[in-house]
Amino acid sequence: MTTTLITGIGELVTGDVERPIVPDAALVIDGERIAWVGEAAAAPDADTRVEVAGRAVIPGFVDSHTHLVFAGDRGDEFAARMSGRPYTAGGIRRTVAATRSASEAELLANARRLVAEARRQGTTTIEVKSGYGLSVEHELRSVRVARELTEEVTFLGAHVVPDGAERDTYVELVTGAMLDACAPYARWIDVFCETGAFTLDETERILRAGAARGLGLRVHAGQLGPSACVRLAVELGAASVDHCTFLTDDDVEALAASDTVATLLPGAEFSTRQPWPDARRLLDAGVRVALASDCNPGSSFTTSLPFCIALAVREMGMTPLEAVLAATAGGAAALRRDDVGRLLPGARADLVLLDAPSHVHLAYRPGVPLVSRVWSRGSDT
Ligand code: NIG
Ligand code: FE
Repeated sequence: MTTTLITGIGELVTGDVERPIVPDAALVIDGERIAWVGEAAAAPDADTRVEVAGRAVIPGFVDSHTHLVFAGDRGDEFAARMSGRPYTAGGIRRTVAATRSASEAELLANARRLVAEARRQGTTTIEVKSGYGLSVEHELRSVRVARELTEEVTFLGAHVVPDGAERDTYVELVTGAMLDACAPYARWIDVFCETGAFTLDETERILRAGAARGLGLRVHAGQLGPSACVRLAVELGAASVDHCTFLTDDDVEALAASDTVATLLPGAEFSTRQPWPDARRLLDAGVRVALASDCNPGSSFTTSLPFCIALAVREMGMTPLEAVLAATAGGAAALRRDDVGRLLPGARADLVLLDAPSHVHLAYRPGVPLVSRVWSRGSDT
């Protein structure tokens, strides 16, 4: 196996709890893993050497929430919202129609293009949900496509009740034949628990059915208003509650006392003109927070975690370091992974070189393409 020494790192964000930032650092990659991290002056020899001239290196981003398997465009809805229309869950059905009409090859090509776009912006681990098929055949296609791209596949048959379906019959399908077909491709099950989507009771039935099939739990909750689903998710041991735009004090307390991560999705608030989630309130209460893109054609059509970091710092009360850690180690925690999201010996060699001296520039220089080189499993090609 060849080893590579990356040296001259002006600032290394390791994500280590004890020492999250090392100045004047170096790092050694051995194959797909990190072998050594520390001060450049103490670095061991390696087969090859990369000199980065004082620039910053951070962990590759872990985007724990995306909906990349879809076809079609909903830019018209975005434009209507910018002139005052509210966001509703109903737009999902438009994407369902476009997705069903596309071929599996088209869906795969579109999702692959978005994964590549995300990687160019520093994302090295990505979760991908189904949820725009909403029939056994079309959800199965979606999880198959997602599985081509990532090991972090989430079955979201419970996105909305599709046109023409009766609620109870559809919930039976999601917890029965659709789950049977999709579970072999998925690691997670998710439910959109919201007005216009699924009720608390339906959500509980669906999550319990997924858990019985061995899937880990995640939910969309508190996007459009406060929801008892946050506490349900905590009680059921969900890995993550996503959105958390509206939370009661009891929700925050329950999250703080649990292992459930609160995943904030500022791209959705940007694109729907909703209030910003209060990251500061969560962090001060001791809640584990992640930042993710929620990339989807309806409510958040961005793959850029640097953009989400800038929003979180400017609008949600996070420091630049808290935001970077939420988009790396926080995303890893939301996926219950300890092999990604941190730059420590033994971790996967997923790292990003910034064209900047510090991680602060990700928020300080918003909209600027600062990601200059990305290594994923030790490879930068
Ligand atoms: O996370 N909230 C549910 N699902 C997506 C939106 C999907 C859509 O509007 O197409 C979200 O925001
Ligand atoms: Fe989502």
